[in-house]
Parts: sequence; structure tokens; C-alpha cells
Amino acid sequence: MRTQVGIIGAGPAGLMLSHLLHLEGIETVILENRSRAYIEGRIRAGLIEHWARDLLVDTGVGERLKRESLFHHGIHFCFDGALHHIDFQKLVGKGVTVYGQQEVIKDLVARRLADGGQILFEASDAAVHDLKGSPRITFNHGGKAQELACDLIGGCDGFHGICRPSIPDGVLTFYDREYPFGWVGILSESPPADDELIYSYHDRGFALYTMRSPSLARLYLQCDYHDDLANWPDRRIWDELHARLAGTRKLQEGKIVDKLLTAMHSFVVEPMQYGRLFLAGDSAHIQPPTGAKGMNLALADVVVLARAMTAYFKSGRSDLLERYSQTCLRRVWKAQRFSWWMTQMLHLNPDDNAFDRKRQLGELSYVVSSEAAATSLAENYVGLPVES
Ligand code: APR
Ligand code: PHB
Repeated sequence: MRTQVGIIGAGPAGLMLSHLLHLEGIETVILENRSRAYIEGRIRAGLIEHWARDLLVDTGVGERLKRESLFHHGIHFCFDGALHHIDFQKLVGKGVTVYGQQEVIKDLVARRLADGGQILFEASDAAVHDLKGSPRITFNHGGKAQELACDLIGGCDGFHGICRPSIPDGVLTFYDREYPFGWVGILSESPPADDELIYSYHDRGFALYTMRSPSLARLYLQCDYHDDLANWPDRRIWDELHARLAGTRKLQEGKIVDKLLTAMHSFVVEPMQYGRLFLAGDSAHIQPPTGAKGMNLALADVVVLARAMTAYFKSGRSDLLERYSQTCLRRVWKAQRFSWWMTQMLHLNPDDNAFDRKRQLGELSYVVSSEAAATSLAENYVGLPVES
């Protein structure tokens, strides 16, 4: 088999890269090691930055999103027993869209297949070869060993994928930070606590009250670093969610249909390229979920990558490809900074003392009372522009 761009991974990065290249008349093949049902059912975050919503709509994959998503003008912070609203629309004239990542996945898969795109699901043992010469991807599919020759490779296989580890030792620099806590998350068949998200700072730990729809709440609680879901029976989860809302809203309980434990980690690799292999999304960087940047950063990377690959195939220009990594990393580091900032401001850190708690409250109080601070938060939350 031969194609122009071989893509490993059918997450938001791989699917959107394939879609954008198709719109430019460039051929791709996506290799995904999971089944279609698995990737379409995998529950992740669900918050879309303003420009990413425009991207989905403008490239023809936003019809269902326009009907089913919720548009939010701002968020609430809860601390010291009160709610404080940050109005993004008023501060920066933009908002965010609540729509589950797996819904974006379903829309992109449907569109790629309708457009005749090739997604090989359950393709196992992918390996990349000759990255500085004539790249090839070997893999197993349908019980047969296969080989895909390509001009360029999109390494869109997430944090645990094979692309990043295929780059020779010594080429990459890794930057990372572990946080000494995690999140327990649930999806509940009940109405959300409010029409907009509530980020709550509380003596018992952080909590986030979000949603997928007016009848489906998504709720998260800060938990210990090495916690276990066995420590979180439903009753304890609801009791903590009620307590950490500090009486500011009434939270209705419902049937829990998903329960997960998430580690909190910041990670960036530089550069995001080796020869003809280009890393995009979680394969190059991950961030704690506090600012919901994961899917948005993955989409931003592939917007830059698709433009660079298009210039390469259509005009024989390789300058944009050469600059791909540095262009993306400028935005990646701003998103890392924002995700880290939100995380450290809102969580109880076991190494902190009473001074740090007061400092966090001082910071929250500043953010909700200063137009300059709130504007800074708003412009980062709704999403910084994507450079070319
Ligand atoms: N071969 C083929 N596919 C693979 C391999 C492999 N060896 N390893 C991983 N994959 C697939 C995964 O099954 C997944 O579908 O690559 C895809 C990577 O998708 P994501 O993990 O969703 O990563 P990305 O597209 O970069 O999107 C980042 O997704 O993980 C969330 O929170 C994250 O929101 C962020 C977003
Ligand atoms: C979510 O809806 O799952 C979500 C929203 C905002 C976040 C994190 C997760 O900061």
C-alpha cells in the first residue's frame, strides 16, 4: 500500500488531520489499534474552544454539534461559600462549547468514511521505519502483515503510542511535572448543578461541576495521588460533591453511568518532529484536565500540520514543515502554563501549608474582582489564536 500521509491514531488529532488533508485533495490512511465502537464510546473531556468550534463547523463536521451542543458564556468559581461568575462573552466577546470529545470523534469518523477515507480499525503492532528517508509503517490487519509506504507520517497515537518512542534516544527533550493528586470523575443521569461550569476550591479538595447535556452531569473530585476507585463508592462521591458545592447550588443525584480515576500530569516533548515523522496531540504533550485543553491543543497542532503538509505537497515548500514544531510549541507552552496555573490555584496540595491556602484564596479573589485578571483567564480559557 502507498499513500501520501500515513496517520497513526484515530483520536481528534489523527481524524482531523486526515479530514483537513482530504479537503486539500491529499490522500491519507489512518491506522487505529482499537475498534470503531471503542473509540466512539471512549468518554473524555467535552469542552471546545471558540476557534475549534468554528473549525468543526467551517470544515463541514459541525452539523450535529450545532444542534446538540451547549454554548457557554462563562464559568463560575466557588470559594468561601459563594459563587463568582466570570463572563467571557463580556470580557473577550467569545465563549466555549460543551460537546463530548467522543461526539467529535463520531462526527469525524462518519465524515471520513462518507468521503471515502480509509481508517483501518484494529490495526495492531504498528511500527515506523526509515523516518529520515522513505518512511514506511508496518502493521497487522485482518490477520495479515502489511506495509504502508508514505511521504510523511502523522504521529497522532496519543500519550501511550509508538511514534514518540520510535524516535532515537538523545533527539528529544522531555519536560514534565506530576501533581500529587488525581481526579475521580463520574457521568450521572441527572441535571447539572448550574447552566455553566462551576470550579470549586474547598477545604476538602477541588471539585468541578460540568455537563454533557441538560440531563447528563459530568462531575469531578480531587482525590489522592495513589487513590483507588474502590475507595469511592457512589455514596461517598455524592456526599463529597454536595459538601464541596458549599450550599451555593442544589445538586440533584442520578444514576452513575461512568466512573473513572484520572492522574494529573503535565508533559511536553521537544521537538515535535523527527525526519518525516510529525507528532501531534497527546503523543507530544499532555496537561492536567483543569483547563480542558487536551482536545483543543490536539486540534490546534493538526491545523498547523495540515497547512504545512499542504504547502509541501502543493508547492514543494518544506519551510512550514521545518517550522511545525516551533510554531506549535509556542502555543503548547501557553496552554501548559494556563493548565498548570488553574491546577495550582484550585487544588489542595499536600505539601502546602496554611499560608498557601490563604495565597490561593487571595489569587481567586483577585481573579474574580480584577477585570485585567479575569480577561487574562477568559482569553486563555476560550482559546488563544492558532498561528500559521
Ligand atoms: N497503533 C495505532 N493506534 C494507536 C496506537 C498504536 N500503537 N497507540 C494508540 N493508538 C490510538 C488510540 O487508540 C487513540 O484512538 O491513537 C489514538 C490517540 O488518540 P487520543 O489519545 O485521543 O489523542 P489525540 O488525538 O492526541 O487527542 C488528544 O484526547 O486523550 C485525549 O485528553 C486527551 O483530549 C485529549 C485528546
Ligand atoms: C468536562 O466537561 O469533562 C471538563 C470540562 C472542563 C474541564 C475539564 C473537564 O476543565
